[in-house]
Amino acid sequence: MASASFLSTIGKRLEGKVAIVTGGASGIGEAIAKLFSEHGAKVVIADVQDELGNSVINALGGSSNSIYIHCDVTNEDHVQEAVDRTIATFGKLDIMICNAGICDETKSRIIDNTKADFERVLSINVTGVFLSMKHAARVMVPTRSGCIISTASVSSTVGAAASHAYCSSKHAVLGLTKNLAVELGQFGIRVNCLSPYAMVTPLATKVIGLENEELENAMSAVGNLKGATLKVDDVAKAALFLASDDAQYISGHNLFIDGGFTVCNPGLGMFKYPES
Ligand SMILES: NC(=O)c1ccc[n+]([C@@H]2O[C@H](COP(=O)([O-])OP(=O)(O)OC[C@H]3O[C@@H](n4cnc5c(N)ncnc54)[C@H](O)[C@@H]3O)[C@@H](O)[C@H]2O)c1
Repeated sequence: MASASFLSTIGKRLEGKVAIVTGGASGIGEAIAKLFSEHGAKVVIADVQDELGNSVINALGGSSNSIYIHCDVTNEDHVQEAVDRTIATFGKLDIMICNAGICDETKSRIIDNTKADFERVLSINVTGVFLSMKHAARVMVPTRSGCIISTASVSSTVGAAASHAYCSSKHAVLGLTKNLAVELGQFGIRVNCLSPYAMVTPLATKVIGLENEELENAMSAVGNLKGATLKVDDVAKAALFLASDDAQYISGHNLFIDGGFTVCNPGLGMFKYPES
């Protein structure tokens, strides 16, 4: 996280902005909520983990600048209510972070995947993002301003990095991002998504079955960029960039935070230096 002296040097990049972070009670969303708050934004955490969500609000300094709202992103009434309460509390919505997501267990054969599991993942990862985008657009279009960012994944572009359902869902998030960037460009609203490689969060440790350093070591071993380890704060910094005026002409973009993983063809082993 940025230190106070660093912030005073470069200024708070989201001063006066109001942001909703879906899935902000944990992992990447929690890191985004904290960094946005440090940069002067008023933050609304919309999640289903009430205790964790409220503890993040306490860590942000309480209810004057941030609130927790119980919101299941698959439920349109919840999403509508979260957006309306944000407007009622803070007067506007500048930034919508559509981040809530889940991942199911990877089964190597499609015939072992159930329809129920497939639909559960798509319901949160796709319908949830669709509803979050829809209700953000509802209040942003009349003001002709705003910024929508979704958390996709390297699975938005490559196959075989996660389950069939997850891969399908993240390709769909990218599709929604592109369509909405085109639709909302005429209103000055930017729409982008973030595509991170794997990092330690409750979602990843559960699906990969490894904890903390073990997970990081395993992911570094098959990653492209050596000498650095992806952390939730790296994704939060990318979100901060896209949400800030520094990205004022960036829309329809899929920002990879993957150390070059998705441009690499490991099968060919090209550019491998000889051992010396
Ligand atoms: N961790 C990774 O390696 C990784 C990599 C790429 C992309 N992602 C994506 O990042 C996003 C955040 O995941 P994370 O790794 O921080 O996981 P996480 O489990 O720490 O956080 C996800 C949050 O989403 C919330 N959530 C789940 N279902 C919800 C629902 N129906 N309504 C509202 N909130 C709901 C959870 O309660 C949780 O707080 C997800 O979209 C995930 O697919 C994660």
